[in-house]
Amino acid sequence: MFNQESTVTAKFEIVLDGETIAVPGDMSVAAALLAIGKITTRTSPTAKEPRSPHCLMGICFECLMEIDGVQRQACMTEVHEGMVINRGIKEGEGGK
Ligand code: FES
Repeated sequence: MFNQESTVTAKFEIVLDGETIAVPGDMSVAAALLAIGKITTRTSPTAKEPRSPHCLMGICFECLMEIDGVQRQACMTEVHEGMVINRGIKEGEGGK
């Protein structure tokens, strides 16, 4: 039914929570992080529980994270080489 043939051509190094990692390029930040198993985008301010991208089209705001110093929706931001992302996840809050 679905053809999973990859069309990813670029690969970038980014800094995620202070750690340099490689992610696929030519896609949104949310998709790139999901592709490498980093599913937590933020922690809910009240329940302190991890959140992940939900709609992937700019509506739910579950993918908010600090990208290059600005709070942005990861699903609406294209990943680029050298991008700096801070998710603000603290130890014990269940982030992946
Ligand atoms: S995943 Fe819903 S706004 Fe980004």
